[in-house]
Amino acid sequence: MPGIVIVGLQWGDEGKGKISYLLCRDADCVVRFQGGANAGHTVVVEGRRLKFNILPAGSAAGARPCIASGTVVDLDEVFEELEMLKSMGLEARLMISRSASVVLPIHKKLDSRIEEARGGSAVGTTRRGIGPTYSDKALRTGLRIEDLLNPDDLRERLEILKRFHGEEPGDFENLRRMGERIAPYVGDVELYVNDVLDEGGKVVFEGAQGTLLDIDHGTYPYVTSSNTIAGAACTGCGIGPTRISEVIGVAKAYTTRVGAGVFPTEVGGELGERLREVGQEYGTTTGRPRRVGWLDIPLLRYAIRISNVDWIALTKLDVLSGLDKIKICVEYEYDGKILKIAPPAVRLLSRVKPIYEEVKGWEKISEDEWRSIAERGWEALPDEAKAYVELLEDLLGKPIKLISIGADAGMEVER
Ligand code: IMO
Ligand code: MG
Repeated sequence: MPGIVIVGLQWGDEGKGKISYLLCRDADCVVRFQGGANAGHTVVVEGRRLKFNILPAGSAAGARPCIASGTVVDLDEVFEELEMLKSMGLEARLMISRSASVVLPIHKKLDSRIEEARGGSAVGTTRRGIGPTYSDKALRTGLRIEDLLNPDDLRERLEILKRFHGEEPGDFENLRRMGERIAPYVGDVELYVNDVLDEGGKVVFEGAQGTLLDIDHGTYPYVTSSNTIAGAACTGCGIGPTRISEVIGVAKAYTTRVGAGVFPTEVGGELGERLREVGQEYGTTTGRPRRVGWLDIPLLRYAIRISNVDWIALTKLDVLSGLDKIKICVEYEYDGKILKIAPPAVRLLSRVKPIYEEVKGWEKISEDEWRSIAERGWEALPDEAKAYVELLEDLLGKPIKLISIGADAGMEVER
């Protein structure tokens, strides 16, 4: 009964979409259990670039897409992405939970208004209405998928929201029609997923965002509004903790962050520009340029610790090609002391000084050469690239079993 959780170990955009696709090739279903259309998971299959914001990217591999109760759902996005899957000839047997929360127009408006009110301390949200939808959920004023299915319930919920927010939360007719459209896909995701696991099926839980964006364990308040660590698969989908048989952490070979907040290993100037260009570090969801920096081992150790990661998928190793020297932050110095693991408290994190180790880079490699390396496997990587991966394994104490060297599925080596 493999229940496999994929979790981002940094600030999101680690390449979870591709890893999920690879692991879903023999999976029965793939579940989004938190977050909403703030995610941007990309899969490139046979030259076709598929962008998922709300459906799990693993569904491109044919696994049944499920959207569980812990999510906040933008239905327009759902319909668009279902069309995308259909256009690929995939029969998307989506199942969406009755208890998933619905993102309403008011939530998107509020997201922007709150950001503006924060002024210089704006989080830099995706403005997809994530925070305000979760906030209505926690206040118990939120709208759930099941409310869309019955016009009387819908009217009542909208009335409460209107009284509370002092303005129209969303158009009744429009939402009622959406309810009709989504009805065929609504199901008991929570029971279904447990049944699949009971029957010995393989379920992939596709995490969105990353550990450091977790609302409890991330760099608050510069975080998203949900739990993003492996444990969130349990609460977000209604599976018991012992259902999880494996936790796979996805880490980029360097670090990126989009939005505001602490970033100890951030690199500016020409080198930062270069990494951003070569790595195409622009947001999938918002197109914003991402901040870039060196790999941060203390932060990865922390992320591995709180999700109890079994093994690591390392992505975008190819982007580091052509650098003379590569820096790795191996520990922090804080108040005259050495810290090997990042402190959970964000105020401390903003005061640490990264200590770097420098390793030798490797020559620039053409795309054709990368392709040939992907065919030949691990041994074909440049010695310095292998040494980089092995050093990371030593520093992190976890195996790196999968290394992605290009966006396309197939551009990876296994170990
Ligand atoms: P994937 O799944 C990277 C960031 C936003 C902002 C903060 C809060 O592609 O890794 P929100 O809209 O969630 O209220 O914004 O979180 N953020 C992400 N950054 N990748 C993501 O998802 C993100 N989802 C949210 O940029 O800093
Ligand atoms: Mg993203």
